Amino acid sequence: MRKLSLPADSKMLTSSFTYGVATASFQIEGGIDSRLPCIWDTFCATPNKIVDNSNGAIACDHFNLWEDDINLIESLGVDAYRLSISWPRVMHKNGELNKEGVQFYLNILERLEQKNIKAFVTLYHWDLPQHIEDNGGWLNRETAFLFAEYADKISKAIGHKVHSFATLNEPFCSAYLGYEIGIHAPGKVGKEFGKKAAHHLLLGHGLALQMLNKNCPDALNGIVLNFTPCYSASEKEEDIEATKFADDYFNQWYAKPIFDGAYPDIINQLPEENRPEIFPGDMEIISQPNDFFGINFYTRAIYKADKEEHFVQLDPPAPRTDIGWEIYPQALNQLLTSLHEIYELPPIYITENGAAMNDQLEDGEVHDIDRVNYYQQHLSVVDNAIKSGIKIDGYFAWSLMDNFEWAEGYLKRFGIVHVDYETQKRTIKASGLAYKNLISNR
Ligand code: FCB
Repeated sequence: MRKLSLPADSKMLTSSFTYGVATASFQIEGGIDSRLPCIWDTFCATPNKIVDNSNGAIACDHFNLWEDDINLIESLGVDAYRLSISWPRVMHKNGELNKEGVQFYLNILERLEQKNIKAFVTLYHWDLPQHIEDNGGWLNRETAFLFAEYADKISKAIGHKVHSFATLNEPFCSAYLGYEIGIHAPGKVGKEFGKKAAHHLLLGHGLALQMLNKNCPDALNGIVLNFTPCYSASEKEEDIEATKFADDYFNQWYAKPIFDGAYPDIINQLPEENRPEIFPGDMEIISQPNDFFGINFYTRAIYKADKEEHFVQLDPPAPRTDIGWEIYPQALNQLLTSLHEIYELPPIYITENGAAMNDQLEDGEVHDIDRVNYYQQHLSVVDNAIKSGIKIDGYFAWSLMDNFEWAEGYLKRFGIVHVDYETQKRTIKASGLAYKNLISNR
């Protein structure tokens, strides 16, 4: 069996380093009859949006199987579980808490507590209630305030059982994929939408953070951003400049307002109609201090200059995972180093990292050595980053188990546990066993 290993002097082998597994509500829960519809239900019901025409109606049936799933998490020996709350499950349309929905999460959180597993709770992992979308969704400034109201109420109800709250997961994906190029829910397309949605998401983050800090001052409160580091296709000045533009557009657009209270300067190069509407005081709300910073990393992207579009992305070179993303762990190193240099950061948690692989279940086993290798490479990078002086306090594998991979449906498997969607049987893959082994050998 291929093992995961770290050098004996690694800070990641001390008990103060947190290892976890991550999931998100829409991707695993199912149980859609007991919650309000969300934008992903609608998106899945729209023809040709999801590669296998699937939806989240059942997913991993975690809504019914949560007790077994927590036993599974416990069996992996992890310190923490990162889950998300489904906003449409815990809030009624009238803005009141849905008691049954809240109880579902309280049961989970209580069980985690009994098992001494820290709960890292994300409040928004993309499942916006459909009725809010019908009012403009993240293009409507009001949604930021509704999000803060939800954050206020849910944190009062469950905060005593939560170790860490993240406001948003990957606002880049919500804004750009969801409102600019439309490959994610709600599927809006237009350059004039992306940055407006992004601003309202970030404003929502800031407003929600105020609620979390008020209601749960002892929790680690912060945000989770994703980064795809940008590399220039050549040494040509125009390519380097285009790549810098792409980095500001996709990555720094989300980090800079949070840590510096300002958007990247390229905001002045965007046509007026594509810019967000920023009210006085917004940037102060967005840039309040965070207790931790969650970073999701999977891959890098390579760009060259383009006359019309500023930049164009090249096809990722090999080696690639099953979802087509290049395996390039050096980019994680470059990312951590550069973020550490540019910003004054709170402690970092790698809140997602992992790979989709073409897994085969054979005789009740999955020998996903390619995924073990992916984890080995990336854990080594994290270890070296810590040694170089960057404060990283935890690492979460994406994902606990195979699940609904958004526009890819169930075709792409990211789990360290295999899910048979016919029987809902879970089988720990070689990567899950290796992860367990690494953690238990500390
Ligand atoms: C991230 C998402 C997560 C999962 C992984 C593969 O962008 O946060 O839900 O889909 O990608």
